Amino acid sequence: MPDWKALRAEFPLLDRYIYLNACSLGPLPRVGRAALARYAQDWDEKGTPVWFSDWLPLLERFRGRVAELLGASAGSTAIAPSVSVALTTLATGLPLPEGRRKVLIGELDFPTIGHQWLSRPQFEVEFVPSPDGIAIPPEAFAERIDERTALVVTTHLFYTTGYLQDVRTIADAAHAAGALCVIDGYQTCGCVPLDVEAMGCDAFVGGCLKWLSGGPGNAFLYVTPELIPRMRPQGTGWFATRDPFSFTLQELVFAGDARRLETGTWAVPSHYAGLAGLELILEVRVANIQERLRDLTDRILERCDQAGVRTFTPRERQLRCGIVTLECERPEEVEARLHADGVIVDSRPGRIRLSPHWCVTEEELERGMDLVLHHLALPTPRSGEQRVSHAT
Ligand SMILES: Cc1ncc(COP(=O)(O)O)c(C=O)c1O
Repeated sequence: MPDWKALRAEFPLLDRYIYLNACSLGPLPRVGRAALARYAQDWDEKGTPVWFSDWLPLLERFRGRVAELLGASAGSTAIAPSVSVALTTLATGLPLPEGRRKVLIGELDFPTIGHQWLSRPQFEVEFVPSPDGIAIPPEAFAERIDERTALVVTTHLFYTTGYLQDVRTIADAAHAAGALCVIDGYQTCGCVPLDVEAMGCDAFVGGCLKWLSGGPGNAFLYVTPELIPRMRPQGTGWFATRDPFSFTLQELVFAGDARRLETGTWAVPSHYAGLAGLELILEVRVANIQERLRDLTDRILERCDQAGVRTFTPRERQLRCGIVTLECERPEEVEARLHADGVIVDSRPGRIRLSPHWCVTEEELERGMDLVLHHLALPTPRSGEQRVSHAT
């Protein structure tokens, strides 16, 4: 088991707040801060040659470490500026079965997934309902997959409830009907051990912002090696080509590997920070983080039960990881009050979402939960009474 106390010193923010929002923005580790300083120093000291001495090798190392995180083979991972852009690349580039228009999406999935396919009139989007607002059984996907289905797109773990989906069963059902399966794993990268080959999905997207503590601007995607040669994204750039430095204008020859899914110049500073966070988490080991988070979320659920607060997260340990959502009438107000009390949480419509960082101590969690439950129990102000502003 890792020395959680020693690791905690790696995240100075945890000394200032009880941090219960790691699934939204992971705290900056000391190695990330040092990497950002190194970025400025490398740029300032070396000028143009820094591209070949440092920046391109760093990006290549990033792709390799992403492959390690996902259990993917070398050359099957690519860089994207955001998960939304990664999904755009997949929406235009995947070789979908001819003549099929239907795309199935879970009704608890992140909005950008819906928007991505709703913005394309050539697709007919169907949302798979959740019977309880917490989970969607894999059979609910399977029942709706038919000979018209081109693609199933869903998240690995629901951002609204923390439910961890059985991706293998969903992907198998899609494949049995000749459809493809794309998984958005933004909420599992860094907190659930990943093996994209065992999951059986055709493509997977994620990023470093959340559980990988790498900040924004460094998302990524994976496509199975068999599909890569058939990927032809509409909307591309010179860094997707086989030889960008040949400066060939009048023909387009895509790179043979997943670099064909990239476009133009990368946000390099984001990748200094992203790589630092990613390497730290690989060193701690995602399986250890998962166990720790399941312990912390067990305790959150227990405290909510004792206080009679309704939650929207599965009880079964193996069906969740780092997120618990609680019913709340005034989520933005409660979030702001907790912030003023030194506890960072997130609000979603009708809910407070708690996602403790894995270095939060047991004592801090108890204190944080005392405050969360205290603010949840405060009476709703009558109309006309002053409310706490979101900006406090
Ligand atoms: C599961 C999931 N997918 C996608 C996104 C959006 O990612 P991006 O802003 O990088 O497009 C989020 C953001 O929180 C998310 O939780």
